[in-house]
Amino acid sequence: MDIHDAIYRRRATRRYTDRSVTKAAVMEIVRAATQAPSSMNEQPWRFGVFHGAALLEDFSRRAKAHLVATLSPSFDLHPRSQDYAEWDHSIVHHAGTLVVIYAQGGRFHPAEECGLAAQNLMLAASGMGLATCPIGFMRPWLNLPEIKAELGVPEDCTAIFPIVVGYAAETPPDVPRREPEFVGWRWTEEKAGSPTPFDRLLRSNGEVGGRGAPTGAPRPASVG
Ligand SMILES: Cc1cc2nc3c(=O)[nH]c(=O)nc-3n(C[C@H](O)[C@H](O)[C@H](O)COP(=O)(O)O)c2cc1C
Repeated sequence: MDIHDAIYRRRATRRYTDRSVTKAAVMEIVRAATQAPSSMNEQPWRFGVFHGAALLEDFSRRAKAHLVATLSPSFDLHPRSQDYAEWDHSIVHHAGTLVVIYAQGGRFHPAEECGLAAQNLMLAASGMGLATCPIGFMRPWLNLPEIKAELGVPEDCTAIFPIVVGYAAETPPDVPRREPEFVGWRWTEEKAGSPTPFDRLLRSNGEVGGRGAPTGAPRPASVG
């Protein structure tokens, strides 16, 4: 699969088959994660790998209990808050493998760097026919000192990006994206040759393209 396909086909997957992900596959996607850039090449990412349906369901139950106990009032606004109110709902979507990207050290941008590693991991998985879903709702629980101790994770590691991995039991629906919104645009060079996709976008928005901010860019009807 080329990179374009991997980017456009990756979707957060919330239904998984029972098929187990192999250790070799996990190693491959984790290696891909480590190819992410980091400032001064500090590579602040560390990985936790937790595998097994029963183990993950136990994590799910406890992470959800913690989440529910510490909910902020704004939680009701979340579109899936109903799911979380139902005790049966698996916070890990019944996946069999969880990879947690932790930050340790990193003087400048450790969280961003772990996010880049996470995207690499998810794209590599997508390219290998694996499905993934980031599980932000697990983070608070994973960062509890007693949970780090239980899992053998060093105290100074911060869980940044939990991701479940498995084989998809469904093709997730397309999740629409808004058109790019440009808030700065200053293109000072004359271009030779054929128009780029950006030029075409600007033209379709009524701009002549290539210069000045695309002030005519349409705003989406819905921000979903
Ligand atoms: C930091 C982060 C945390 C997320 N946490 C969750 C989560 O806890 N549970 C979940 O089902 N999806 C979670 N998602 C998935 C998003 O809902 C999903 O990426 C978004 O709706 C776009 O859909 P797509 O990934 O299929 O393109 C998270 C995504 C990110 C980037």
